[in-house]
Parts: sequence; C-alpha cells; structure tokens
Amino acid sequence: MDIQANISLKKFNTFGIDAHARYFSRFKTVEELHDLLDLRKSIVDLSSFSVLGGGSNILFTKNYDGLILKNELKGIKKIKEDEHHVYVQAGAGENWHQFVLYCIENNLAGIENLSLIPGNVGASPMQNIGAYGVEIKDVFAYLEAYSIKEKVLHTFSLNDCELGYRDSIFKRKYKNEFIITSVTYRLNKQPHFNVSYGAIKDELEKMKVKELSIKSISQAVINIRSSKLPDPAKIGNAGSFFKNPTVSRSFFETLKNKFPGIVGYDVHNGDIKLAAGWLIEQCGWKGFRKGDAGCYDKQALVLVNYGTATGDEIYNLSEDILQSVKEKFGVKLEREVNIF
Ligand code: EPU
Repeated sequence: MDIQANISLKKFNTFGIDAHARYFSRFKTVEELHDLLDLRKSIVDLSSFSVLGGGSNILFTKNYDGLILKNELKGIKKIKEDEHHVYVQAGAGENWHQFVLYCIENNLAGIENLSLIPGNVGASPMQNIGAYGVEIKDVFAYLEAYSIKEKVLHTFSLNDCELGYRDSIFKRKYKNEFIITSVTYRLNKQPHFNVSYGAIKDELEKMKVKELSIKSISQAVINIRSSKLPDPAKIGNAGSFFKNPTVSRSFFETLKNKFPGIVGYDVHNGDIKLAAGWLIEQCGWKGFRKGDAGCYDKQALVLVNYGTATGDEIYNLSEDILQSVKEKFGVKLEREVNIF
C-alpha cells in the first residue's frame, strides 16, 4: 500500500475535473482499507478522508485537502440459490455495467433495465440507482459495510438501508460512518420483463425484437442511453445533475393551468414527480454553453464539461439553473451529484 501525494483526480471523476488530492491511495481488500485508515492518523497525520468509487456522481469544486481512498474491492460470486432466485455478491469496486453484463451472460434477471449506468457496485445502494422503471431496491438482498468507528464489518438488510428515490441511510444518518464493501443482489431465474417505460417499448419495436429477453431489453436500454446521455469517456458529466422534484397534486394542477405542457408522473402517495429536464429546458438552458461548462443539448438534466471547465464553473451554472427554475415555476431543484 502506498500513499501518494498531490495526485490529479481528473481520471478518477467522470466530470473530468482537474482537482488534486493532497493524498491518494487505493484498497483492494478490507484489510488494506483497515490499515490505511490506521495509517492516515500516524503517518499522514490526517483525519479527513473520502472513499471514491467510480467517481460518476461527484463534482470537485476545489482541491481535496485530505486523503482520497479509491475503492478497488473486486470479485463476483454466487452465494446461494433457491427455486426462484440466485444470490450474487459483488465487490463494491466492481464496475456496475460489467456486473450487469455478467448477470445477463449467466441468465440472471432483474437488472437489465439498469444497463450502462456509470459507476461502481458500491454506489448502487448508496443512492438506490434507478432507470427505466427499475431501482436497486427491487433486487437488493443485503450489503456489507465497514464501520469506521468500530473497525468491523456490519451487514445491512433491505430495511436497514432505508432506500428511497436516489437516497439511502448512508446519505443521511450514517453519512461518513460506513464504507460499503460488497453488495448481494437477489436475481431472478425466470425474468419478469419490465417494459413499462414507453421509450423501451419504442426502442424494442425499432430493433424489431420478436421475443423479449433480458439481453434485448439491455440492448434497448443501451441504445436509449447512448442516444441521449453523453458518454463520459468523450464528454465529462455525472448523469442527471438534479433530482426530479416532487410536488403536491394541487400545486401540480396550478402549474399545469399555467404551463399545460408540464411533464409529471404520479408517485405512490398521490404526489407528482416533475421531469426536471422539462423545467430546465423551458428556462432556455438546454444546449447552453459558457466556456467549457454546459447543459447537454439532448437532455437538459445533464450538465457537461466539454474539456477544461472547473468544478466551480459547473457549480455556478447549476446555481443559475436552480435560480431560474425557482423563479419561473416556484420549484426548488435539488442536486443529485455530490459536491466536494
Ligand atoms: N424532458 C424534457 N427535456 C429534457 C429532458 C427531459 O422535456 O431535456 C422531459 C421529457 O418529457 C421526457 C421526461 O422529461 O419524457 C423524462 O426524461 P427521461 O426519460 O430522460 O428521464 P429523466 O426523468 O430526465 C430519470 C433519471 C435518469 C434515468 C431516466 C430513465 C433522475 C434524476 N434521472 O431521468 O437517471 O436514466 O429517468 O429512467 O431520476 C441519473 O440518475 O444519473 C440518470 C441518468
């Protein structure tokens, strides 16, 4: 294990922001993580540290004056199976999409709709990743996480994690207390196809798919995502920058009278989730670019770095967007991306 000093984080965040970490190291086992956390106090003389996964949901607005620990816990293994399910455990540092492909190759259903989401396995329960009608909570069995205070592994069930829309207990009550080390998913032997999302149906038709399979659904999702979301390898971004805000039905009706085209979906408790992309587009931001910071021209919910934008420039753009949406619609957007 070595700890490096003054390391550029550009290749470790999908926004491609060239912030520097004062110290940087990686861990491939839980023992290495344990040792690094001990070392940081004695050798490095630092208390502040952060664990980085795929770096796909983070915006660095300044240099990081602490120790960045890159999670490289790998390994995928079948834990057990019953009549209907196979339980598969993956190291938190496994690439998410590679894990989806592993499941598809092994005929394990449940996460095909979550194809091509950037990031690592460890982030999947942390923010309950979701797309095209499926969320991690639908296939989650349990996870293991290292307690920074107690220096031991704990197991968290689905209930323990309190998964919500892009949310979990690890973003709130247990923030900075645990490091997710592995996640175990309960996958289906028999697929239950979820094609409720209109865009998937349309894409499958376009692909002329006669018989549904997890592979064809995965391909449809890959096609849709590639057509409207920028590839972080080419244009820096962190997916949706804001969450879709929820408003009461009565407020939605008021908005709808004023803005008949407004896009909203029912959520279970009777509230309405608004498409933030629509709100942002209506404020004229879609395709906007100032220097290298911009609002993507095919999906207004995604902010992009065309090359050398700083984290501050992206952040300031997000602030301007937030203000104008608030002024026009009276709706306060919340950032989905973690700001550092
Ligand atoms: N829309 C616009 N203009 C835009 C973008 C969207 O008018 O520029 C409207 C359209 O009416 C569209 C609707 O918004 O039909 C919904 O757009 P889309 O299907 O692209 O989904 P989203 O609500 O913008 C959410 C997730 C995505 C996920 C997609 C598909 C959030 C914050 N984002 O986006 O997740 O891939 O649904 O399920 O919930 C992510 O979290 O990083 C992410 C990409």
